[in-house]
Amino acid sequence: MKITIFGSGYVGLVTGACLADAGNHVVCVDIDAGKIERLNAGEVPIHEPGLDAVIKRNAEAGRLRFTTDAAAGVAHGLFQLIAVGTPPDEDGSADLRYVLAVARTIGAHMSEYKLVITKSTVPVGTADKVRGTVAEALAARGVAVEYDTVSNPEFLKEGAALADFMKPDRVIVGTDSTRASDWMRTLYDPFTRNRDRMIVMDIRSAELTKYAANAMLATKISFMNELANLAEEFGADIESVRVGIGSDPRIGYSFIYPGVGYGGSCFPKDVQALARSATEVGYDAVILKAVETVNARQKQVLFAKIQKHFGVLHGKTIAVWGLSFKPNTDDMRAAPSRVLLEALWAEGAFVRAYDPVAMPETRRIYGDRPDLTLCNSSAQALTGADALAIVTEWQEFRSPDFDGLRASLRQPVIFDGRNLYDPAQMARAGFSYYAIGRGQRNK
Ligand SMILES: NC(=O)c1ccc[n+]([C@@H]2O[C@H](COP(=O)([O-])OP(=O)(O)OC[C@H]3O[C@@H](n4cnc5c(N)ncnc54)[C@H](O)[C@@H]3O)[C@@H](O)[C@H]2O)c1
Repeated sequence: MKITIFGSGYVGLVTGACLADAGNHVVCVDIDAGKIERLNAGEVPIHEPGLDAVIKRNAEAGRLRFTTDAAAGVAHGLFQLIAVGTPPDEDGSADLRYVLAVARTIGAHMSEYKLVITKSTVPVGTADKVRGTVAEALAARGVAVEYDTVSNPEFLKEGAALADFMKPDRVIVGTDSTRASDWMRTLYDPFTRNRDRMIVMDIRSAELTKYAANAMLATKISFMNELANLAEEFGADIESVRVGIGSDPRIGYSFIYPGVGYGGSCFPKDVQALARSATEVGYDAVILKAVETVNARQKQVLFAKIQKHFGVLHGKTIAVWGLSFKPNTDDMRAAPSRVLLEALWAEGAFVRAYDPVAMPETRRIYGDRPDLTLCNSSAQALTGADALAIVTEWQEFRSPDFDGLRASLRQPVIFDGRNLYDPAQMARAGFSYYAIGRGQRNK
């Protein structure tokens, strides 16, 4: 089948690569000429495990192409997938300008039946706007061409995106057309072979399903962070509490890890956008607002512990392990590390930072500055630092050489934003160890 994907970011590239891998002919369109140039030169602009190989083999097989030529993209695919960004506007609502620009482009160039499919995360009611925008563009040309609009929100996780796309838990399809749902079934059949995972519903419900999923996961995180802060006050250990409640199948173990708050390109903006959409329909989304408030507060917790320990931070050097918002990605959008770095700098502290893959992204965001040293290894980051702060739970940080660590640091102090180590063991090894929600030892 012929497929066109607008937007070659995390979602567009993974979708394009996986659909091509199933034997389809995919054209990826992006307005970022530099990105397309890199892709055509065989370079993958994002870090996503396994993606390079899938792109390479499908590009070489001629099934996956990259272009800035939107008209050629519209001409190519029966399926026109919109996977462009929906960043937060100033008021927190989702900025739809990129999505609607693609809809306009499709309407401006299409000459035969198309499925216009929104994969981007968009507020309820956006499909109507997409449909209207395509119709306007067609009317402006004075032509009548049939098309169906579909909401097909994406649920992949950065860091495990390929597996998520290839073996989805579910495929949500929102449409009012059986012709469209039949085509969508054909598109996703190769990925849902062992049982049907496609859930077809009306468009508005599909749009809301995506926000509901992210808001629920963000709620679990903020809930657990709130409990972690309470555990510190009560002298309880949140890790015991986590195991204690996770064993209840109604609660489960996933997404109940306390930490330094959620970041990334999705949860923060999606919770905000849903709360904003609620305001627009006159509803006060109390839980969503609280989830956001708790998260913003949690992003400050590690810094507060560091400041409390040292009193004055001016001139101190803090080693920071982990910069990406979670492991296995280089994505630093809304990453908790950024809040920590910026708070440390505001107090006149120096940072020696290390991340297995997000160093180029850190350099892109912060450039060269005297209070930031980007180090080549986790060990190098420790040299001469007054303390270590762990922000992202990369695998390689889970079992470090504690003797080497103690020898490199000026003082044996660790601020662990991910609860990677055992507080009792750390105390025995002579560390001042501050974790999240781990009882009186934290105080
Ligand atoms: N990143 C994720 O983990 C994830 C998961 C599920 C859903 N989503 C949603 O998917 C959407 C895309 O997210 P992303 O992380 O891939 O974004 P991204 O910022 O990585 O990529 C978006 C791409 O769209 C391109 N673009 C903008 N306007 C364009 C146009 N008119 N034509 C063609 N290309 C255009 C940009 O140049 C950019 O390369 C968002 O709505 C996001 O909320 C993201």
